[in-house]
Amino acid sequence: MFELMAGGKIGHIALSDIADQMVIAPATANVIGKVANGIADDFLTTMIMATKVPVLFVPSMNTKMWESSIVQGNIEKLKENGYQFMEPTAGDLACGWQGKGRLPPIDDIVEQMEDIFTEKDYVDQRVLITAGPTVEAIDPVRCISNRSSGKMGYAIAKMAKRRGAEVVLITGITSLPPPRCDIRVIDVVTAQEMRAVVMEEQRRASVIIKAAAVADYRCKEENLQKIKKKNGKDEITLALTKNPDIIEELGRVIGDRVLVGFAAETEHVVEHARDKLQRKHLDLIVANDVSKSGIGFGADDNEVTIIDAAGGAVHVPRLSKDEIAEIILDEALKVAKKKKKTEEDWY
Ligand code: PMT
Repeated sequence: MFELMAGGKIGHIALSDIADQMVIAPATANVIGKVANGIADDFLTTMIMATKVPVLFVPSMNTKMWESSIVQGNIEKLKENGYQFMEPTAGDLACGWQGKGRLPPIDDIVEQMEDIFTEKDYVDQRVLITAGPTVEAIDPVRCISNRSSGKMGYAIAKMAKRRGAEVVLITGITSLPPPRCDIRVIDVVTAQEMRAVVMEEQRRASVIIKAAAVADYRCKEENLQKIKKKNGKDEITLALTKNPDIIEELGRVIGDRVLVGFAAETEHVVEHARDKLQRKHLDLIVANDVSKSGIGFGADDNEVTIIDAAGGAVHVPRLSKDEIAEIILDEALKVAKKKKKTEEDWY
């Protein structure tokens, strides 16, 4: 512990000096108890005591130890002193018990670390995001859908939560892992279901971002039985009917809140997007060229042009969907502030 490092620095102090954040994972009842009571008698506890950066404890222990009033009291004391904690998850424990006490998944710990580093500029916002495809039944075994994976919408939900927003994610069927547990998720299948949930939830939202790929049409007739192959017929015709245009309906009620749409286009991308923005009374539209490979549907990256209601356009070159999500949220926040200011000036 006191061994000198290069330059004559003392190990536990030198390491605490270079850290931007400290994560104690797994944090045992022992280490929590020591720090809570001012004991610094080994490398870890001296390092924690010597730091001023954020410290995140990720407890993991037997469920009875976790529930013990002594451990809980120590955690309370540390929280009051600015230390941060994650809750252990429930399940099978190494000691053979079942219950709360498991170390959370590493991805969740990393997300919590990112959260600690992120400025909470969305703390006053309630953000509604739609993601993924809608699926319209043709019959009990077949459907009409599209290639949306949900990645773009999920990335926006994650980043909005990180920035402190209250987030509701309304999602079509995807194969993505569920987002972090403090995001409220509502699963839907069809465009009509999505419309019903969006119109109910929009009343509480201050920013609405519609990344979902909604089917414009569904089957006119509901086929309750599987459509059988017709002998001798090389073609059959499916009659389709129009689905509700959710974003158009939102445009009529959005008022001083912020409405962001997406435009998935394969040609004249910016022109078509501008037209949608105007017709549907959006504040911003995120135009993406879904004919390009490596971006758009299913990809981890995207390349977009964000167009505002005054005609301004920001081209964002190919970046990860997380990075694109950050830029969309930056632009949406600018609009939110502008609209709020206009409202204040009016009164
Ligand atoms: O999910 P990923 O694989 O990550 O891919 C991301 C994406 C390509 C799906 C996403 O970036 C995107 O472009 N989403 C919108 C797709 C789409 O349906 O575009 P559109 O041009 O058909 O619709 C325009 C806007 O109207 C969209 O905001 C859409 O959500 C909305 N809409 C469309 C039809 C409808 N009936 N109701 C709607 O609200």
